[in-house]
This record gives sequence, C-alpha cells and structure tokens, in this order.
Amino acid sequence: MKTNPIILAIESSCDDTGAAVLCGRKVLSNVVAGQSVHEKYGGIVPELASRSHQQNIVPVVHQALEKAGIKKEEIDAVAFTKGPGLLGSLLVGSSFAKAFSMALNKPLIEINHMEAHILAHFIEGDAAPEFPFICLTVSGGHTQLVKVSAPDKFEIIGETIDDAAGEAFDKIAKIMNFPFPGGPMIDKLSKEGNPNKFAFAHPKVPGLNFSFSGLKTSVLYFLKKEVAKNPNFIEENKVDLAASIQKTIIDILMKQLRIAATQNNISQIAIAGGVSANSGLRAALKAESQWTTFIPKFEYCTDNAAMIGIAAYYKFMKGEFSDQSSKASARLEM
Ligand code: KG4
Ligand code: ZN
Repeated sequence: MKTNPIILAIESSCDDTGAAVLCGRKVLSNVVAGQSVHEKYGGIVPELASRSHQQNIVPVVHQALEKAGIKKEEIDAVAFTKGPGLLGSLLVGSSFAKAFSMALNKPLIEINHMEAHILAHFIEGDAAPEFPFICLTVSGGHTQLVKVSAPDKFEIIGETIDDAAGEAFDKIAKIMNFPFPGGPMIDKLSKEGNPNKFAFAHPKVPGLNFSFSGLKTSVLYFLKKEVAKNPNFIEENKVDLAASIQKTIIDILMKQLRIAATQNNISQIAIAGGVSANSGLRAALKAESQWTTFIPKFEYCTDNAAMIGIAAYYKFMKGEFSDQSSKASARLEM
C-alpha cells in the first residue's frame, strides 16, 4: 500500500461545494464554493442547494486539481461524503465521485461527514490530539459529544435532543432579522457587546445531552415583549443581545463538555464543526487550563473537502474501499 496516497475528496452535504487534493495527510489544495442563493430565504433551500452543487462541482474539482498541480491520472482514490446531509446535495457529490472513479479506474472511498469534521484535527500541520480524546462537534445540523479512541472508533456520549447549536445561532439571528447564516454575525456583534446584560435560562437535560429549542423560544418571547414596548429594542441592543445569547450557548456547551471530560477522565479535548469557528467558544476552550485543547484552523471548521480527504486517508491505509453500489445516505450514523 502506498504510504502517501494522492486523494481527491469531494464534499457536498449541505450548501458548500468542496473539492480537495491530499498527499498523505498533507493538504495540497482545498477549494470551497459557497452558495449565496439561500441568503434571501433566511435558510437553506434544498432544491436550490442541489442545483448549485451541479453548477459548481466541475469547476471546483478542476480548480482543486490545478491548485494542487496534480493530473487526474496521478490520483490514487476518489473520496466523497456519503452522509449525513441533504439527500439532493449528497447525490451530486456521490454521483460525481462514482463517475470519476469509474472513468479513472481508481478506488472509491465513502466518508461520514461527522467523522470527517473530527478527523480534520489530523490534517498535517498543528499538533493532533492523542487517543482517546473527547470532541465537541458543533455544526448547523449536529451537536455531539464524541469519545474518539482511534481514527475509526467513535462513541457518541451526548447529543442534542432538538436543535443543533449552529441551528440555535441561525434561528435566533433570524428572529433578530440578521442575514443567514446568523452564527458568524452574532459572533461579530458579540465582540462589542456585554455578555451579562441579558440572562437566558439554561435547559434541564438528562446526562450529557443538549437542548437548544427552549433558548430559541425564550429569546423569541423576550424580544416580542420588549419590541412591544420599544420597536427599536433589537437595533438599540443588538450587540448586547448577541453577546448574551452567544454566552448562553457557549455556557451550555462548556458545562456538558466539562462533565464529559471528568466522567471519562480524559483531558485531551477538541472541538469541531462550523460553530468551532466561534471566537467565544474558542476562547472558552483555551481558558480551561486543566486540558490540552485542540481547535481546528478556521478553514477546517466549516464544511470543506480537506476533512473528507483526511478521513479517506485513514480508510485508504486500511484498504477500506467502496464500489459503484455505494449510496448517499441523508441520515447516516457514525
Ligand atoms: O459544519 P458546518 O459548516 O455545516 C454543517 O455541517 O452544518 O456548520 C454550519 C454552522 C451554521 O449554523 C453557522 O451559523 C455556524 O456553523 N457558524 C458559526 C460561526 N461560523 C459558522 N456559529 C457561530 N459563530 C461562528 N463564527
Ligand atoms: Zn458540517
């Protein structure tokens, strides 16, 4: 088995079309095309996402190969996101990858998107966590506490029972009339606001699970009440509102993460997923001096194909390949 395989990886689970080329654990190129088409709807429209992937996939792959300086014939395997995600979006990436692998007569590798977010920590560059470690994976669709014992051994020890953390950021931002996706906007405004100005209750959830739908509802009712008294309430208080909401979400996440670390006696702690780009969460993690913490580079937090490539590297080394019968799966479990 080749020790430094050249892998072309494709990501299309949601609204970003990504292609990356890796040589072993090293990223040679990582191209992402976002989709601004959803902005005016305040959320992702699945049919539009799938259509944009169809338009983007060929130029994105072409660019990734060109940037990496790799010819199609030099590729050792083609990897793609099998799931979880939006089925119409996943189908574009999976069909493309299958066709590409068949045309080149190269092996195909299917990847779980949530495992890939975690394995992004093993991309060559910064120090990687030692096994076992705990990863708080926080994205637009998922919020999970995962005990990772090996590159192919994941145990979900806690997860959200309703909305994901990113969804909470986005839905609350929508209530406040911020553009989609609201997470980055709340993060930006928070930097100028007072996080202790407004207090929102924490959910009562058993074990290591999370819940964010109650927070969304309590923000909604609080704002309705305040706006009835002062129609400019949101505009006048937007930085303090953003900072207070962000603090609440981070406090909820950090509380469960601390319990998970103590219960499992693990001090190697990582975060992953789109919300790990949040400056408040990154700062909160760094402040935990009893842990060795791992925070992905910004470009590997939100959806990207380099993380699919690193996950594929580990499967390549084990000879775990798929064939043309491989199917996209919207609800793929870890
Ligand atoms: O992992 P990701 O790119 O896509 C999914 O797999 O869902 O995560 C997207 C989520 C969105 O909810 C977005 O608002 C959130 O990540 N996000 C952030 C920040 N950047 C992205 N949330 C808070 N602060 C940020 N800086
Ligand atoms: Zn993701």
